[in-house]
Amino acid sequence: MLCPRFGRVKIAVAKETREGEARVAMVPELVGKLTGLGYDVVVEPGAGDGALIADDEYVAAGATIDGGALEVADVVVSVQPLPRESVRRLQKGAATVSFLPGAQVPEIVSDLRDVGVTSYAMELVPRISRAQSMDALSSQALVAGYRCAIVAAGMLRRFFPLNMTAAGTVPPAEVVVLGAGVAGLQAIATAKRLGAVVSAYDVRAAAAEEIRSMGAKSIDLQLETLEGAGGYAREMSEDRAARQMEALAPYIANADALITTAAVPGRTAPLLVTAAMVEKMKPGSVVIDLAAESGGNVEGSVAGEVVRIGDAQVWGGSNVPSQMPGPASKLYAQNIVNIVTLMTATGEGAEPGTFAPDFEDEIVSSSCVTHEGEIKHEPTRAAVEGEKEEATS
Ligand code: NAI
Repeated sequence: MLCPRFGRVKIAVAKETREGEARVAMVPELVGKLTGLGYDVVVEPGAGDGALIADDEYVAAGATIDGGALEVADVVVSVQPLPRESVRRLQKGAATVSFLPGAQVPEIVSDLRDVGVTSYAMELVPRISRAQSMDALSSQALVAGYRCAIVAAGMLRRFFPLNMTAAGTVPPAEVVVLGAGVAGLQAIATAKRLGAVVSAYDVRAAAAEEIRSMGAKSIDLQLETLEGAGGYAREMSEDRAARQMEALAPYIANADALITTAAVPGRTAPLLVTAAMVEKMKPGSVVIDLAAESGGNVEGSVAGEVVRIGDAQVWGGSNVPSQMPGPASKLYAQNIVNIVTLMTATGEGAEPGTFAPDFEDEIVSSSCVTHEGEIKHEPTRAAVEGEKEEATS
């Protein structure tokens, strides 16, 4: 428990250092929520630069700007995991709250363990109703889905909506969305608002109704659904993948814009569309692959680049939420405020600003990666310690 007996508990807002990361974990308009809980908020200089937030705005909201914020922090909030050099600056017993994909950054996780930091990963917050307001995967997927539709509309050299004019009628664009989770549904809603004719496909049974509720047509491939644990999709077998591709091919050939957002938790993204399928698309078609960074739903897509396949332009997503850093930061910061609120003691006699995560709480225990010198999250521990064994053998 970190309590304010020796001065108020300090929450530091880190300046992101990863290339291309423009978001920030706290926005000025939410600083008051943290100070209202009894915390001091200390911001690294320039933390808001990428999201066009000036240091002065944080100060006006009640925070202080301090180049040594990490050294004095009891809790550090960030979007990306802190880099190793920042972890080494933390106090023993401090806590971090950020995205922390342990298997991808094993050396950071071992540093957090060795420094004695308690780290919480936002992507491990369980997807239960009580945790919806802390669900950063959803808040950031919403931004990404919107952005995908806007990029498709911007790249396509034709109208999304139907235009009936005195000079004649221009038909609407046909947009196909594959994967109708949080990002896919937002892409559908945005493309619909722009007037496109949208159809979509997802392997989950519940998705068809969700697609229709957005005003799009649900593509029925007459294939078995693939439900996994917790309402997520399961991985496809090779045979299922081949049958899905064959059944999807005519829909993709007919699309002006294809947006793919399919993912299976803990796996590389499923390959849904081959380069040969893209080659059958009409000249000038656009493909947006949100999953390009995690393996790609579209064969040949490259994260952060636009490549040409046949006569189509294929845009590979790279940290897409960061491309809209203002709203993405605001939503993420709200997730952070909600999880910090959960971790703040409120019972009888609790002093304001007592950071005391309750490890009996499923949200706290599930999201904890390191605590008291140990890696608590089992898959991360296996990934980190497996890597160490490989290096020494
Ligand atoms: P995600 O990002 O893991 O995957 C995106 C979508 O890809 C999913 O809808 C998935 O079914 C689909 N997909 C996977 N393999 C596919 C394939 N071969 N072909 C076509 N589509 C494929 O999922 P996301 O957006 O994180 O959410 C998925 C589900 O998780 C939601 O619909 C919901 O059931 C659940 N969820 C629950 C929340 C809560 O209770 N707090 C919040 C958000 C999501």
